[in-house]
Amino acid sequence: MTSQPQPHQSFWHRLLDAKITRRSVLGTAAASAAAITLPVAFSDAQAAANNGAPIKADPTTLKPQTVAPFRPIDPTRADTLTLPAGYRFQVLAPWGETFTADGREMGFNHDFVGYFPVDMLEGGQSATDALLTINHEYVNPLFVGGNTKERTPAQIKKEMESVGVSVVRVSKEGQSWKVMPDARNRRIDAMTKIELTGPVRGTAPVKGATVVSGTVGNCSGGQTPWGTLLTCEENVDGYAKAWEGSGYEAMHQGWVTEIDPFDPDWMPKKRTAMGRFRHENAAVTLAQDGRVVVYMGDDMQDACIYKFISRGKYNPSNRAANRDLLAEGDLYVANFGNGSWVLLDYAQNKKLQEAKSSDGKPLFASQAEVLADARSSALAIGGTPVDRPEDIEIHPRTGEVYAALTNNSKHGNYFGHIIKFRENKDDFTALTFLWEVFAYGGPQSGFASPDNLVFDPYGNLWMVTDNSDLGTNPIKAYHGNNAMFFLPTEGPNAGEAYRFAVGPTDAEMTGPVFSPDGKTLFVSVQHPGEDSESLDKLTSNFAAAAGSKTPRPTLVAIEGFPGWTA
Ligand code: FEO
Ligand code: CA
Ligand code: CA
Ligand code: CA
Repeated sequence: MTSQPQPHQSFWHRLLDAKITRRSVLGTAAASAAAITLPVAFSDAQAAANNGAPIKADPTTLKPQTVAPFRPIDPTRADTLTLPAGYRFQVLAPWGETFTADGREMGFNHDFVGYFPVDMLEGGQSATDALLTINHEYVNPLFVGGNTKERTPAQIKKEMESVGVSVVRVSKEGQSWKVMPDARNRRIDAMTKIELTGPVRGTAPVKGATVVSGTVGNCSGGQTPWGTLLTCEENVDGYAKAWEGSGYEAMHQGWVTEIDPFDPDWMPKKRTAMGRFRHENAAVTLAQDGRVVVYMGDDMQDACIYKFISRGKYNPSNRAANRDLLAEGDLYVANFGNGSWVLLDYAQNKKLQEAKSSDGKPLFASQAEVLADARSSALAIGGTPVDRPEDIEIHPRTGEVYAALTNNSKHGNYFGHIIKFRENKDDFTALTFLWEVFAYGGPQSGFASPDNLVFDPYGNLWMVTDNSDLGTNPIKAYHGNNAMFFLPTEGPNAGEAYRFAVGPTDAEMTGPVFSPDGKTLFVSVQHPGEDSESLDKLTSNFAAAAGSKTPRPTLVAIEGFPGWTA
């Protein structure tokens, strides 16, 4: 670490003095975008916004819009999705709906949504026709299978079929969206065959496995510039007990899994080079030299923020090669005490070689063991434990990296906050950075427990909250149900939070992503009615099917936005 260059104290101020309100590398990004032919025709800056989903507008030419395009709403405890005047929502792809040719149903508890324009591989950015990927984070046994006592093999099978990822074609006709038949519609669930790639493949920590079963705990994620999904396996430990007898192996979970929505024949890949931890998200961008950089959080109290840098470089005309880019690379952890990225490398780092457990045994004997327990490795080499990192996103105009630290009751951070950091010389491969707090949760700002983030191309941040103690915790009486907020990042209102949407009872909203024209906001409504005691005592009826009162997790399409305007 001492051999790494230290940031100059004046770096941040030099940038401000030069009045660089736009990211200096945007010029590079725009230039390289112009040089890109097919199959990907958007700049790395655009790729970084909107979860990596394409945006038609060019953030380098858009005028900043720092005022909310809506009249902010008040907190409410209503059991519906409440929106500002002029906005409306449509239930799309709810849990249980059949959507594949072979009769598979949409999974439970929708989370991250990837928007892949159906014409993306031909360079298009359709705003009305797409393959969506929907993460299904976990199940509530009360609703899925109906058995909350003892899990039968049938109940376990039902649950294993209800998690993972859905790939679903949707198109817009007039003002509404609908699910369309498509040969690529499919489920990737807890039993789908997935290949392990990278340094941990075939090694002891994964019991020698090269192909494993399934993906679970699919929380947030990201999209790559070559049109694949990165789905993040977050809470994976409870299933060994819940699904006893199913062959579930926890060490085969807890990775980032890459899925090609366009190619059902391509076996999904677990990217072990990106480490094993409670993967919340994957914010993908391209460095100036073409390497792929991915920012990731480990959502646990006192866990760390990571950065992965691919060994190979992105080649806009070789999609097949790009699909292998995340197999090999370097994993770094953030040290917020001195603004540095520290490499998790067993061969180079004596601290990893010498790390001991509390009973004096060596913690690691190989790079595979380091990556398979990235959290312990990171803490052993000076990674800073932070307050439950949830989503991370890259500002499309400045290149600053924003991270939601949702809360940490261990240190009295009950409301959470959002930080931002800026890589040295705006180079995503830099090993030093400066950081600051962007916004604090609490009654003074109106939000608590920030979770998923998404940027629009103006650089405004859209954020959803994830509190599980609303209605019971008096310190959160101000909050109403979990909500979605709009936060300008430039101008006099930077960091102020304006309430855009309030979710139904017991729900959180997850996975927001805009259509490329900015006219539709897709967002998941996860676990409405989660605290229901029984099917007779439901706390929510949100998105219930006709003739039923049982709430359904669902994707919603929110309309009423003007679209991106110059
Ligand atoms: Fe699944 Fe950390 O939220
Ligand atoms: Ca989350
Ligand atoms: Ca996001
Ligand atoms: Ca969460």
